[in-house]
Amino acid sequence: MSDIFNPKTERFDRALIKSMSEYKDLVAEFDNDYEGTWAKFADEKIDWFKPYDKVLDESNAPFYKWFSGGEMNVAHQCVDRHLESKKDKTAILFEGDNGDKKTLTYGELAVEVNKTANMFKNQFDIKKGDRVVVYMPMITEAAVVMLACAKIGAIHSIVFGGFSAEALRDRIIDAQAKLVVTADGAFRKGKPYMLKPVVDQALKHGCDCVQNVCVVERNGEEITWVEGRDKSYNELIKNESTSCEPEPMESEEPLFLLYTSGSTGKPKGVQHSSAGYILWAQMTMEWVFDIQDDDTYWCTADIGWITGHTYIVYGPLAAGATTVMFEGVPTFPDAGRCWKMVEEYKINQFYTAPTAIRLLHKMGENEPDKYDLSSLRILGTVGEPIDPPAWKWYYEKIGGSNCSIVDTYWQTETGGHVISPLPAATPIKPACATFPLPGISAEVIEEDGTPTEVGEKGFMCITKPWPSMIRNIWNDSERFKTSYFGDCKKDGKPVYFSGDGAMIDEDGYITITGRTDDVINVSGHRMGTAEVEAAIKKHDKVAAVAVVGKPHEIKGEGIFAYIVLKDANDASEDLKVEINKVIKAEIGAIALCDAMAFVPDLPKTRSGKIMRRILRSIVKGEAITQDTSTLEDPSIVGVIEGIVKL
Ligand code: PRX
Repeated sequence: MSDIFNPKTERFDRALIKSMSEYKDLVAEFDNDYEGTWAKFADEKIDWFKPYDKVLDESNAPFYKWFSGGEMNVAHQCVDRHLESKKDKTAILFEGDNGDKKTLTYGELAVEVNKTANMFKNQFDIKKGDRVVVYMPMITEAAVVMLACAKIGAIHSIVFGGFSAEALRDRIIDAQAKLVVTADGAFRKGKPYMLKPVVDQALKHGCDCVQNVCVVERNGEEITWVEGRDKSYNELIKNESTSCEPEPMESEEPLFLLYTSGSTGKPKGVQHSSAGYILWAQMTMEWVFDIQDDDTYWCTADIGWITGHTYIVYGPLAAGATTVMFEGVPTFPDAGRCWKMVEEYKINQFYTAPTAIRLLHKMGENEPDKYDLSSLRILGTVGEPIDPPAWKWYYEKIGGSNCSIVDTYWQTETGGHVISPLPAATPIKPACATFPLPGISAEVIEEDGTPTEVGEKGFMCITKPWPSMIRNIWNDSERFKTSYFGDCKKDGKPVYFSGDGAMIDEDGYITITGRTDDVINVSGHRMGTAEVEAAIKKHDKVAAVAVVGKPHEIKGEGIFAYIVLKDANDASEDLKVEINKVIKAEIGAIALCDAMAFVPDLPKTRSGKIMRRILRSIVKGEAITQDTSTLEDPSIVGVIEGIVKL
């Protein structure tokens, strides 16, 4: 599809960037005075307790510092500062899987956050800089807990509720968390599921750092309580004071850690700052989602991922918006659930992943016809490339050909959007992230910084530091440098490389072509092949394994494992089920293999390196173009091809 869809400008009369010429002016303003322009926005948007001394400190690159010396507080920025004008405005609108409804106004949210912050201080002795692991479902208390941490300067580390006890334990240990906040469980597809037993399992060994577990009641199911360690949130909260002074946070003091997969080793704890992060969360909320005071905004992500952090909690609340939190899944009780909610709450911005769009399209092509979706103004996508048919259905059926689609490209590490259309300004090419946002020096380059030719694949880099960028990898500064600043340079200086490939077309539009490393994008979630391989190797019948991504109709990519058994006679369908059980226990259901092949060996070079490119080609049914003569055993390629084709 090469059509261009011009923005429905009449629907965006209050937008902050109203046209391509305004966009270009702003880009030029950043080009002419990068720090000055960022300072202008920081002064306008952030309610500083103490002004900063320096906009950007590059003296210890790539450990960049933004707004050094300034003091502020993210919970104040997201809640307290709105109280004068928005006390009675709905901040969070919750809908449970089972249809439960609850709203929190900004006034009520402030009270909940303060009580929780006081509880953390008084009952759990949480101080500035302590780590709090959050393993919670999509309930309002999760947002409250995040903001309560921010209020007292504790660093939260949210672990997605789909991760297993082992994965949770690894993250707790790496962060050396003092407190774990969880819930008994929640509801999913009409049934209760449990979280607290997973925490109990995780804490069985190696987690001496954890002093307490604070449990929110959600589904009311029976759970075990460990005397002295476990405390009821619902009980403790009753006695706490409703006022709490915000902890003044220096701009660079960490707001949160969020673990994400890399191409090698264990997941890395991406560390974000306070001031720079919230500034960009708020600015992109205003620019990309054109958020207005009377809007109701819904992002369907989970708070366990960066999208949930920035675009369910921090961005919308910093912008003073009404944000929807949904506990359930888009397909329960039927494929009309989301559209029913859009109609009921008169949602103006709807933000989801291409996987969900593909699934809803497949399950209920005409389902949207049953609902009034005319409140929608902006439709967003995130997490993976969207394919043109899904884009078209989204645009026509959901948006009634009257909305802007913002295909937002970004990552856990970027903190917020980096490439995206602007709804009132950018003529859209379907399935294309379009242009870098003003202030973001996103460039498609070769390793030495040369811009790639039109239509050529290059490295998606960001060549100048920006306020919401990752600050470090928790406990591993060396890995921070090598993971992000080791591959590409511009003017001889290392620049941030995203791990993605991209292409620029003749009109300057950027299309993301996908990861260039060993990271698989499953339903918009990042999964490191090394992690899945490490899990599979835990099965005692497995000798060697290589995991690759396989195109999948709904998920975008599925996980495919080539497995060499210690004894080839053990190969069976039952063993595949067993191996998936190990993966579920080690990582969680999101890492289950869609398919496996038992093979006699893997294609290895003489130095023992597994040729994954060959394995990727085989699973896609592509012709092998790589030179196989350097392999230890070139004949293995044909053997594996034969097995996979069966
Ligand atoms: O490969 C890119 C893909 O998702 C990766 C980031 O994953 P994660 O850190 O989990 O954050 C997901 C939500 C921001 C990227 O390296 N990705 C993200 N957005 C897009 C995308 N690929 C194509 N188009 C997008 N809009």
